[in-house]
Amino acid sequence: MNGRRPILVANWKMYKTAAEAVDFLDRFLPRVAGVAEVEVAIAPPFTALDRAGRRLAGSAVALAAQNASAETEGAFTGEVAPRMLAELGCRYAIVGHSERRALFGEGDALVARKAAALLAAGIRPIVCVGETLEQREAGRTFEVLAAQVAGSLASVPPERAAELVLAYEPVWAIGTGRTATPEIAQEAHRFLRERLAGLFGAAAGQVRLQYGGSVKPENVYALLAQPDIDGALVGGASLDAEAFARIVRSRGPEEAR
Ligand code: 13P
Repeated sequence: MNGRRPILVANWKMYKTAAEAVDFLDRFLPRVAGVAEVEVAIAPPFTALDRAGRRLAGSAVALAAQNASAETEGAFTGEVAPRMLAELGCRYAIVGHSERRALFGEGDALVARKAAALLAAGIRPIVCVGETLEQREAGRTFEVLAAQVAGSLASVPPERAAELVLAYEPVWAIGTGRTATPEIAQEAHRFLRERLAGLFGAAAGQVRLQYGGSVKPENVYALLAQPDIDGALVGGASLDAEAFARIVRSRGPEEAR
């Protein structure tokens, strides 16, 4: 036992209105009642955070945001500050997702500022890293991951490291149905753990490392069985209450089938 409680997070991306989010939770929460071995969080769009948070009150499922500003407040049209998310009850916020890096030009320096701003507001950052297919095929996976970890976590002090979640999401596995094999994922996670040890020392052992990329009820168990995989960040399969509940409840390969 490594003492790290697995964490499963639903990243809904730009899906579901507030009403649809509540409808999902009405069906999802009874299906995961009593599950204590894993931590679960739902990251709906900003517009659904308030109502989803009210529906989650009193449950063991946490609320998460998909992004946050690095600023506290000010003239930043369209941005949402960490303290606004904290007020709605967000326990986690995803930063540095590959879609934000690729489509919205976010780089490691900004991700690092966002992670620091979240910690300052009492929200735990889920920092995403991952290589593209081109980078993997060029043999650059570990070089890319090393640079992303060093840059994106530059402002996290070792005494706050235990609050951090680091998500390894190979870009080639996101939304493609092409899940990394447990061996490939574990190899990357072990590398990331080593880099965390370089940054944080012994506290690296407390950081939870999530795998993300085409996680489904059928493959989550084998991934979570790996020694350095402490959870999953789930996109498409988390939009369906039954499928995400099966992922949360998966304790053995046969149960998820
Ligand atoms: P999919 O599970 O749809 O591949 O998405 C993964 C992801 O990007 C989660 O953040």
